[in-house]
Order: sequence, then structure tokens, then C-alpha cells
Amino acid sequence: MAKKNETFEGIQPENIISDFLKPSLYISFSPPAIGEEEEREVLDSLRSGWITTGPKVKEFENKIAEFVQAKEAVATFSCTDAMHLALNTLGIQEGDEVITTPYTFASTAHVICYQRAKPVFIDVEADSFNIDPKKIEERITLKTKAILPVHFAGHACDMDPIMDIAKKHSLRVVEDAAHAIGTSYKGRMIGSFGDITCYSFYATKNLATAEGGMAVTNNLEWSKRMRMMTMYGISDAREIWEKRYRQAGSIHYDIAELGFKCNMTDINAALGLKQLEKLEGFNEQREVYCQIYDREFKDHSGLRTPHIKDYTKSSRHLYPLLLNLEYLSIERDEFINALKEINIGASVLFMPLHLHSYYAKLLNHKWGDFPVAENLFERVICLPLSPALLETDIKKVAEGVLYLLERFKR
Ligand SMILES: Cc1ncc(COP(=O)(O)O)c(C=O)c1O
Repeated sequence: MAKKNETFEGIQPENIISDFLKPSLYISFSPPAIGEEEEREVLDSLRSGWITTGPKVKEFENKIAEFVQAKEAVATFSCTDAMHLALNTLGIQEGDEVITTPYTFASTAHVICYQRAKPVFIDVEADSFNIDPKKIEERITLKTKAILPVHFAGHACDMDPIMDIAKKHSLRVVEDAAHAIGTSYKGRMIGSFGDITCYSFYATKNLATAEGGMAVTNNLEWSKRMRMMTMYGISDAREIWEKRYRQAGSIHYDIAELGFKCNMTDINAALGLKQLEKLEGFNEQREVYCQIYDREFKDHSGLRTPHIKDYTKSSRHLYPLLLNLEYLSIERDEFINALKEINIGASVLFMPLHLHSYYAKLLNHKWGDFPVAENLFERVICLPLSPALLETDIKKVAEGVLYLLERFKR
């Protein structure tokens, strides 16, 4: 990336919009919206005598399945685990190839490598940041076994062509819906029609359980196996709370497979149950905040606001704003630092995976291989967004961005 450091001297105190400098006014990127209801539900778990995987996990699984209109949901420790279990259960193995996007977090490709399969990256669409379905077929080989699309920022991928290609070539579709709880595609909930769809409930996500994930599917065999694999591959491990440690329980169990240890605890599920009750309201609040940003930045020649395509209702996990670098005398990283100096905690999601040393080496990739993803990465800033923020915070962020655009106009 070309540097323009010489023009950036940091924000000078005389240029600061005064109260932005007070540390207490720091607007963080994605604070969790945890209330008294969550506190009470967690306490209930703590006092129940059963704190790990138990009744609350079961209830949370059922409610997530209902919410996303899938038959089954399997709670895990993380989305990474959910995707790993999904690929493992679908039989992805050494020698296989899985098509995915470079514009994502480490986990999406890591889980393919955990199965000793090879991630095959496809460039993204410039407007949605999502895998470009038009470019998928040319990369399908005899080794291709699955497609792993990522619904970036909560904007659904164009799933009809992806599902059609999968059907035509007998491929599985595992969706990375880490950002997309509550997202729909052409009126259908994400999670209701792919083979296995995986969510993240990490602390910054729309629904936060501190750490947590969920794999949903309409296939009962797969859900049964994934559930077993969350607990060492012990055949009825998830019934332990009912069977083994209760008076009527048996001390015997069978290890049926080489499983993992990635179960969700009842404490996390307690948080999740209450967060789920609020999720639609949270997502609406996010939409309202995104629209405030949209209005404030409308038609500004230094910016491009996120474009939401007609076919999706987005969960609005992120607000990825694109800088017009021609307009500015500073680069994106310097813009982020300048935002920090005025107490705005913006972030960058994501540096494309092929630019990270591990994947560059593994797959022999270099800068230039995925130009659309690279161009988005060079220009993107994700602004603070959370229902835990106030409307006044969002307006201050917008004011700060507009101020910096003026301050660093080329
Ligand atoms: C697109 C994407 N996929 C997967 C993950 C992994 O989620 P988890 O931390 O729950 O494993 C993240 C996490 O931020 C993500 O952004």
C-alpha cells in the first residue's frame, strides 16, 4: 500500500472538536448490550447447581432453530468450532478443496485446513463484499467438495446462484453466518436452506454470549453427529446432565468417535436466551443507526456508504464505510488513527486472508491475486455500531468522520 505519511502529523489539539478528547467519551467499536435480564438468567444458572452444558443449552438450541427456521441447532463454544464440526461431519478431508472468500476472518479458512483440505479463494463483489457467484464455477475441480460463503457484515450472499452451482456439481454448502443472525435472503431466513449454517455469539456479535457458536441444519443425522462431536465423540454425552450425574443415571458411556471438546456452557446459553429475546429489537436499532450514518454521509465525494441489495434484509452487524483515497491526503490506517485520537473506536474488517503470511505461503498467493478484495481492504473503515451505543454517539462518530474528511482533504 502506498504511504502518504509525510502529510500526516496526527491531530493537533487546536483542530480537535473539543470534548472528543476526553477519554471518558471514547466511543468503542462494538460494546455488548447486556442488561439485567441477562444478569438474572446467568445467576439462575450459577445457583442451579448445573453450570456447564445442560437445560439452558438445550432451550437455547431449540429457540435458535425456531428463530432461523431450521430443524436442528447444535450449540458450540464458537463459530469456528461450529464450522469445523460442519466440515468434519460432511466428510471434508485431505485432498478435498473448499471454495470460499478471502474477505473474511481467519476461522473460515482455518477450519478447512483443520480438515487437511485446501481453501480455494474466489474474489468478492465490490458492492456487497461477498463471494462473487459468477466467479465460482471456473474454480471448481474434481477435488471441490463444498462452498463456504460468508455473509459479510450481515449482508446475505446471493444464495440462489450459489445453491444452484452446488446442486449442479454435487457440492455441500456450509455458510459462515458469524455476522448474520437475523439476516434473510429473498424472504427466507439464512440458516433455513443451506446444508449447515454457522453463527458466532462472540462478545462483539449481534447476539453475544461472550464466546459461543451454533450450527443449524435440517438434517437430523448431521445434527446428531455434531452434537456428539462437541463432547469428545461420546455417544450420549449431551444427556449426561440428565443421566450420568442424577440419581437414576448410569456410570457407563461409550466413546463412539474421535470427537472434540467444544460444547457451550449453560452460563453462556443463559446470556444467549435473553439476548435472543432482544435480537429483533437490537437489529432494528442497528438499522436505525446505519440509516443515520447513511444520511450524514449521503453524496459525500470522500465516501461510499454500504450498499444493501434488494434481496437481503441485513442484520447490520457492521457499517463498512469506504474512503475515497483520491479525496484524502492520508491513507486509511492514518484515518483510523485520527479517529482514535478523537475518541472514535473504528476498526478494519478484514485484511483479506491471502495477504496474511500463513495463507500467502500455503497457497502461494500474493498482492494482486484478488483485486476487488484488496481494493475494499485498502479503503474500508468499520464504524462503531451497537445497540449499546446511544444515538448521540452515532451522531458524534458521523461528525468526527466528516470533520476528518475536511481536515485531511487533499
Ligand atoms: C466472518 C467470521 N467468521 C467466523 C468468525 C469466528 O467466530 P468465533 O469467534 O465465534 O469463532 C468470525 C469472528 O469474528 C467472523 O468475523
